[in-house]
Amino acid sequence: MSFRIRMIEPRDREIVERALMSAWGSVRVVSRGKLWNPCDLPGFVAERSGDLVGLVTFRDEADSTEVVTLDSFAEREGIGSALLEAVANYARDRGKTYLWLITTNDNIPAIRFYQRRGWDMVALHHGALAQSRRLKPEIPTHGVDGVPIDHEIEFRLAL
Ligand SMILES: CC(C)(COP(=O)(O)OP(=O)(O)OC[C@H]1O[C@@H](n2cnc3c(N)ncnc32)[C@H](O)[C@@H]1OP(=O)(O)O)[C@@H](O)C(=O)NCCC(=O)NCCS
Repeated sequence: MSFRIRMIEPRDREIVERALMSAWGSVRVVSRGKLWNPCDLPGFVAERSGDLVGLVTFRDEADSTEVVTLDSFAEREGIGSALLEAVANYARDRGKTYLWLITTNDNIPAIRFYQRRGWDMVALHHGALAQSRRLKPEIPTHGVDGVPIDHEIEFRLAL
């Protein structure tokens, strides 16, 4: 099934917020001890017939771009891969040399997904979720398949 990727625009704020709330129960994201509101960040949406079917947000650092959130609402149709590709192209065009992101230890499907797409697992931040919960107490104790959420796993993709 086809879909269209475009940059998030200011008019999308409400729908982006609603999508993040339904996916994660929060519009706050912690990575490496910093708190972000993805609604304030640039990103891309995937749309089909005017409906939101995927969403990625990111933020720039000097040489790199962090993928802050990635969500597909119609899985296994290429939407997640297309959103990552859109961020990679956008970052490359602005001279960034790599993408990076954080996922948590419970999220085995995401860990699989990134590795299948050439991302390198560059670090395990052991016990990092204790600090994350000080910033964002609503992080659940258990995640995918009831696995305790304790650690951050850092991935990197060279551009
Ligand atoms: C991880 C996630 C973003 C992947 O999104 P997605 O849209 O399913 O991704 P894709 O469709 O591009 O790829 C998923 C699989 O579907 C396959 N696929 C793509 N198009 C397909 C099609 N038309 N028919 C069958 N399979 C297809 C891909 O090859 C891929 O399989 P592979 O990994 O074995 O190669 C999605 O599962 C998600 O939103 N998860 C929950 C949120 C989350 O954990 N986000 C990451 C947090 S760090």
